[in-house]
Amino acid sequence: MNLVATLLIARGGSGESENWQCFDVPFEPGESVLDGLRRIRTSTDPTLAFRFSCINANACKECMIVVDGATVYACTARLEAREMRLEPLRNKRLIRDLAVEIAPPDERITFIDGTEGKRS
Ligand code: FES
Repeated sequence: MNLVATLLIARGGSGESENWQCFDVPFEPGESVLDGLRRIRTSTDPTLAFRFSCINANACKECMIVVDGATVYACTARLEAREMRLEPLRNKRLIRDLAVEIAPPDERITFIDGTEGKRS
């Protein structure tokens, strides 16, 4: 049996009106929400923005998002065969889609155009 998760994802950037977009994602039991997001980005929409670094090791803590109203790590939250509503963290500055500013203020730089970035 082919399982499908329907991911309803908040899209848009800072200062833009929020737009909800729906993606059907095939998956195997045990796969994570992060696996589903990565599948969307590689096969359907390469513009989908979200953060991750360690890929399912739950070490980097960059993949935190809101799923069905609860704050979770996308790499430990499991995909389920139902509609799942994904939003960015609401207490952080939105960059785009599910990606928010996570660098501590003293580790950010301000570029000449007034935008902020992270020291590398
Ligand atoms: S991807 Fe690193 S903690 Fe989730």
